Amino acid sequence: MQQETLERLHSRYLVQATWTASIREQLFDSIQIQGKHKLLEVGSGTGVVSAEISQRFSFASIGIDTDCSAVAFARNNDPTSLYLAGDGDNLPFQPAAFDVVVCHFLLLWVENPEQILDEMVRVTKPGGWVMALAEPDYGGRIDFPLELEPIGQAQIQALINQGANPYLGRTLSALFHSAQLTEIRSGLLGGEWQGSINKDQLESEWETLAQDLSDLLPADEIERFRRIDHEAWEMGTRVLFVPTFYAAGRVPFI
Ligand SMILES: C[S@@+](CC[C@H](N)C(=O)[O-])C[C@H]1O[C@@H](n2cnc3c(N)ncnc32)[C@H](O)[C@@H]1O
Repeated sequence: MQQETLERLHSRYLVQATWTASIREQLFDSIQIQGKHKLLEVGSGTGVVSAEISQRFSFASIGIDTDCSAVAFARNNDPTSLYLAGDGDNLPFQPAAFDVVVCHFLLLWVENPEQILDEMVRVTKPGGWVMALAEPDYGGRIDFPLELEPIGQAQIQALINQGANPYLGRTLSALFHSAQLTEIRSGLLGGEWQGSINKDQLESEWETLAQDLSDLLPADEIERFRRIDHEAWEMGTRVLFVPTFYAAGRVPFI
């Protein structure tokens, strides 16, 4: 992947990580494993979440991702963690190698979330935690003004065309139960809309959205949605909510 594309992705991942920060705070506060314990992030991308966890919660973090260019970017960007190229389907680690294993916006993108989760469980110590920190469910998307609702349907189709599962979020708790985890807790992130908008952020969101929708909607229709969206954000009346689920579970002591 080109450096410019990686930088754009990195900025997007940084923004997404701000939306989900509260749940990391809550989960890491509650598990009471901190200090130089070992953490793995599967699907670490440009390293945003691994870097935050190693710096904020003092874990020794490793990130693993199938995309070698993202791994190289993460290494440059975050000297506090270790980044490796590898597949979550078949993690290159011994059983029980980590205290905590997490993923963040990963499972919707993979063909076999069950296999990834089994691998995450395998490499976690008995008594350690496995966490899916954010998995969206586009089937529950809420838009206002109502004229913008067709964007949600088109986005679902675009994700399916890209091989993703837009409904992964609602399956998360079931996936954690199937993986034989215990003390499972799962839930949804809340939403909050403030009066002001960040125009650069909005433009960047639209750049990605317009690209995703380009095969599904005519260009003038996309442009009309973009205009209505911008106006509503500026008036402070826009509501956009994509339910984003999390789950955490503990590996049994046996
Ligand atoms: C949406 S990005 C999220 C990146 C990062 N977790 C974040 O939230 O900033 C998903 C990442 O998962 C990686 N990925 C997809 N399938 C994977 C697999 N089977 N094993 C490891 N990484 C995978 C992709 O290359 C991509 O970097």
